[in-house]
Amino acid sequence: MNVLILGVNGFIGSALARRILAETDWTVAGMDLADDRVRALAGPRFLCQTGDLTLEREWVEAQVARADVVLPLAACATPASYVREPIETFELVFEENLRVVRACVRHGVRVVFPSTSEVYAMCPDEAFNEETSPLVLGPVSRERWIYACAKQMLDRVIWAYGHRGLRFTLFRPFNWFGPGLDDPSRAADGSSRVVTQFLGHLMRGEPLRLVDGGRQRRAFTYLDDGLDALMRILRNEDGRADGRIFNLGNPDNDASIAGLAETMVEVLAELPGWEHVRRAARMVPVTGEAYYGRGYQDTPRRLPDIRAAREHLGWAPRVSLRDGLARMIGHYAADAIPPTPGIVHFTGVGVPTRA
Ligand code: UGA
Repeated sequence: MNVLILGVNGFIGSALARRILAETDWTVAGMDLADDRVRALAGPRFLCQTGDLTLEREWVEAQVARADVVLPLAACATPASYVREPIETFELVFEENLRVVRACVRHGVRVVFPSTSEVYAMCPDEAFNEETSPLVLGPVSRERWIYACAKQMLDRVIWAYGHRGLRFTLFRPFNWFGPGLDDPSRAADGSSRVVTQFLGHLMRGEPLRLVDGGRQRRAFTYLDDGLDALMRILRNEDGRADGRIFNLGNPDNDASIAGLAETMVEVLAELPGWEHVRRAARMVPVTGEAYYGRGYQDTPRRLPDIRAAREHLGWAPRVSLRDGLARMIGHYAADAIPPTPGIVHFTGVGVPTRA
């Protein structure tokens, strides 16, 4: 099978490419702005073209034509960027991915599209269900929702193309985390997703900033579990993933952001050289507006109903929040020199050398 991954150097793309090469005889082609995470994979079964897919349209079209399945993973992924750069978010997430989806339609190629847990937004349901839950976005003046809106619209467009014969699967990652998530050495507020944001602060001896006190909840999902599901979707035995939407999240890892912060402190402090973190860690509340700007609004709870993935893919997540954090933090801590509390030297963090 020929797999095309657009955004192949990203968190999910790079890990998926490694997994495919390790477990199958498929070939992987991909494009990304950089190739630092996947350079080591280069070989007869793996090609990464560095470039901007918004400019390299002919290359993308030609690769779609020769692929058996396409994963358009290119996107920006932090709420801070949705608030600060809503137009760029729309252009990349919606316009560019729509072009790719239409190329899949033209060439009759299967598409496996990353929808997002964000589409449920402020849904009042206890657990979010792919078939029945309403998708409840906030007002237009809150730019945060432009990402969820763009992804939702693509979900709907792909679904509609399905009626015209497009083979597709939509998957919704719920706060996946693991080695390679984001670069914890970037210190600015909102420059990465919460797990790497907190990790960088803890390692540099900076306070953790709990938006609105950290009462909001997420179901954190370890990368390997998510990839297990993605591999099942790609294998697609008996067409079991065709025309379906799957929440890929771990309801057992439902935790508040304050609870996540506490668990991260405990896990890091268990590593040799990092014991001081238990004493030194500080948490300060901050309003969403002060942290992200006026265009922010939060998702108070985000719990997935994963019955569809269990039933059709035979999938269930296995890695607990604590175990996943221990694996991820161990990975990053091994690249940083502790302690001299407050001063940490990062060497190549963000590059998953031993995922
Ligand atoms: C994320 C991102 O939009 C995407 O990566 C993705 O589509 C989706 O969710 C997902 O991974 O399922 P969100 O969970 O809100 O959205 O983003 P995070 O940056 O990971 O923040 C999680 C929570 O932690 C938010 O409530 C945020 O306000 C809070 N937070 C973040 C803090 O309290 N302090 C910080 O320093 C950073």
